[in-house]
Amino acid sequence: MTTLTQNPRLLLEPFRFGDLTLSNRIVMAPLTRMRAPAAGAVPNALMREYYQQRASAGLIITEGTFVSDQARGWFGAPGVYTEEHRKGWQSITDAVHAEGSRIIVQLWHQGAVSNKALVGTGRGPLGPSAVDPEQLVHTGYNNTELTSVPEAMTLDDIRQTVADFRHASQVARDAGFDGVQIQGGFVYLFQQFLQQNLNLRTDAYGGSIENRARLLFEVIEAVLEVWPSQRVGVKAGPMMPERGGFRSGSSTLSTSEYIYRRLNDYGLSHLMVMRQLADLKGTPLQPLAGDDVLHRIGKLYEGTRIINAGISATHAEELLQQGLGELAAFGRDYIANPDLVERIRVHAPLNEQRPEGYYGATSSGYTDYPRLGQIVEVQYV
Ligand SMILES: Cc1cc2nc3c(=O)[nH]c(=O)nc-3n(C[C@H](O)[C@H](O)[C@H](O)COP(=O)(O)O)c2cc1C
Repeated sequence: MTTLTQNPRLLLEPFRFGDLTLSNRIVMAPLTRMRAPAAGAVPNALMREYYQQRASAGLIITEGTFVSDQARGWFGAPGVYTEEHRKGWQSITDAVHAEGSRIIVQLWHQGAVSNKALVGTGRGPLGPSAVDPEQLVHTGYNNTELTSVPEAMTLDDIRQTVADFRHASQVARDAGFDGVQIQGGFVYLFQQFLQQNLNLRTDAYGGSIENRARLLFEVIEAVLEVWPSQRVGVKAGPMMPERGGFRSGSSTLSTSEYIYRRLNDYGLSHLMVMRQLADLKGTPLQPLAGDDVLHRIGKLYEGTRIINAGISATHAEELLQQGLGELAAFGRDYIANPDLVERIRVHAPLNEQRPEGYYGATSSGYTDYPRLGQIVEVQYV
């Protein structure tokens, strides 16, 4: 059990987030939970209950949510590109708003980290070049499969991808979301373009840092045709799993520095900056281990930074007080504690994690974590 020790002063303060006021600086991090397994990947009533339970967060960032069929790459993850998706999400955004919280959707494209059955268009996964990213893909609740060599995107595919993000942004707006976050990091489409080992293109989308980052900025600009800049954010940075095709190289840091500096031109709602959980010893990113990523490159971004990964509330409070971020996101703590804000407020212990329920089809390990003071019913069989 974790107990919180310090006075969480800043975390519990309201925060001006673009043109919105958040009731506190505690953010629910994006968390894929695989609870939309039915054909069509439509958000459902179980998901509504889960998000509503967590709506004392100042801000909720949804699980990664696909922008098109071609973007798909994780069994049971939802979409935000059809009328059915819009309706499903509308019931969730309504429920969250009724509790006084705010919710933005994480727009996701898995690119080459997928397989043909998940994509479901008849075409296989697309990536910057025909190079296997060597990652595991979740094809079912207890199934993972290795990626294979993707098809290299044509210029038409790139134009279609940009259009898909624009369309999904419209569906998100019509579904009542308060904004969007573009998943620009980890092992997904934009990071695939940024990786020199996976992007062998010789056109305007490969080669120089500016070219490898071009798709990300074209997508940001397409999303900004739908949403005002103060409702659009990005998750990006040098951190990746340091496995398979995603290992840091000599240009990883300078690529992220370029992106962070250039994001300043857009007046966005936020940048989500990740600390690294994988061991960085012996990698070019060793100087960014622990909080050093916040000190060394987080500071390049002049707007609101949401900091995340491996931080307790006490640690988050310290980082906010040091000016290394404005909002703090919690992932696993939010999985296990629907009332995380209340627990932080009263310094209560946190529930034990049940990782076996992170991914699954049912309410078990999803909506059945107790709140503080909740009477646990014992069932005798
Ligand atoms: C089960 C699970 C699912 C996740 N799904 C996503 C996701 O869909 N999008 C994303 O950007 N990060 C995802 N993450 C990463 C989390 O947002 C967060 O960065 C990570 O849990 C570390 O933060 P924590 O130490 O507060 O848990 C996921 C993490 C977990 C444990």
